[in-house]
Amino acid sequence: MTPEALEAVRVQLFGKKGELARFQAVLRSLPPEARPAFGQALNAARSALEAAYGERKAALEAAALEARLAAEAIDVTLPGEPLAPGARHPLSLIIEEIEEIFVSMGYRVAEGPDVEWDRYNFEMLNIPKDHPAREMQDSFYLTEEMLLRTHTSPVQVREMLKMGGKTPLKIICPGNVYRRDTDDATHSHMFTQVEGLVVGEGVRMSDLKGTLETFARRLFGEGTKIRLRPSYFPFTEPSAEVDVTCHACGGAGCRVCKGTGWLEVLGAGMVHPKVLEAGGYDPERVSGFAFGLGVERIAMIKFGVDDIRQFYLNDARVLRPFAADLAGPPLATAEAGVPAGGRTAPEETGAGPAASGLE
Ligand code: DAH
Repeated sequence: MTPEALEAVRVQLFGKKGELARFQAVLRSLPPEARPAFGQALNAARSALEAAYGERKAALEAAALEARLAAEAIDVTLPGEPLAPGARHPLSLIIEEIEEIFVSMGYRVAEGPDVEWDRYNFEMLNIPKDHPAREMQDSFYLTEEMLLRTHTSPVQVREMLKMGGKTPLKIICPGNVYRRDTDDATHSHMFTQVEGLVVGEGVRMSDLKGTLETFARRLFGEGTKIRLRPSYFPFTEPSAEVDVTCHACGGAGCRVCKGTGWLEVLGAGMVHPKVLEAGGYDPERVSGFAFGLGVERIAMIKFGVDDIRQFYLNDARVLRPFAADLAGPPLATAEAGVPAGGRTAPEETGAGPAASGLE
């Protein structure tokens, strides 16, 4: 029976001009003494018919629901729409590479807060309130004493204080830093640094040089040389700017290194006695070295990126050259029927990010 047929039956039986209405009219026309018996019979008939109708209606509704559920069923096991493959961000790749190099030399990876106290960011790094070095590192202040850190150097003091005077301390600290700066091809108000710090007995400038040389060779290739130029940082004494031989020309001089053969990649020096003291160490007993490098600069050199803003575009096309670095199969291979488990390591494809610059 269809729902339409059942509706027709309902009208025929229970409608205004239906069978039951007709019998109701008959009831009213009967002499009073005949009405009770007729009325009882009529009520019994109505109840039976209503029950039968209700039962059939429920059965039809249940069947209709079943049919709808079956028709609208979704197979959640069907393969989904293919999405373009993701990729690691070039800055993450560089940070991880740097971490691996230093961890293999016995360093620990530390972290510090982006929102920092003035005293960690400046005071304890030997940059008092009236120090001219503050001008180069103007920042975003949350209160008079709280700011977005202008460098990762405050983590030096935080980590020293955690040691309670014990040695050796060997850490690197990657993280975001902020400065009041005009954004252009080589400047950004937010960028990324990796800080390094070693504190121990008898730590010397030659240890710093050897460490940075090893680091530069591992990051830029075996033939890489470094040079230290005298410089000034309030938290190191002596201080140096560190250059590496140009990645693009091998030191011969080219457009990338502006003909000099060298690229400046980091600042470094021997930890200032005042900073050691702020960190709870006795500068008569221990010494240390520190360095700070700009991750964007290194990524720009390694991947041949000429505008720092590329890193923050949030545009998937920037990541495309790095997609091959993912452990998963590239989408094209997956579509061509390579089983889901068939992974292609970047070494096998030879298409790692180092071989391909940004578009
Ligand atoms: N904090 C410095 C900056 O942001 C970089 C730096 C220089 C860090 C020398 C160091 C260092 O640890 O020894 O400009």
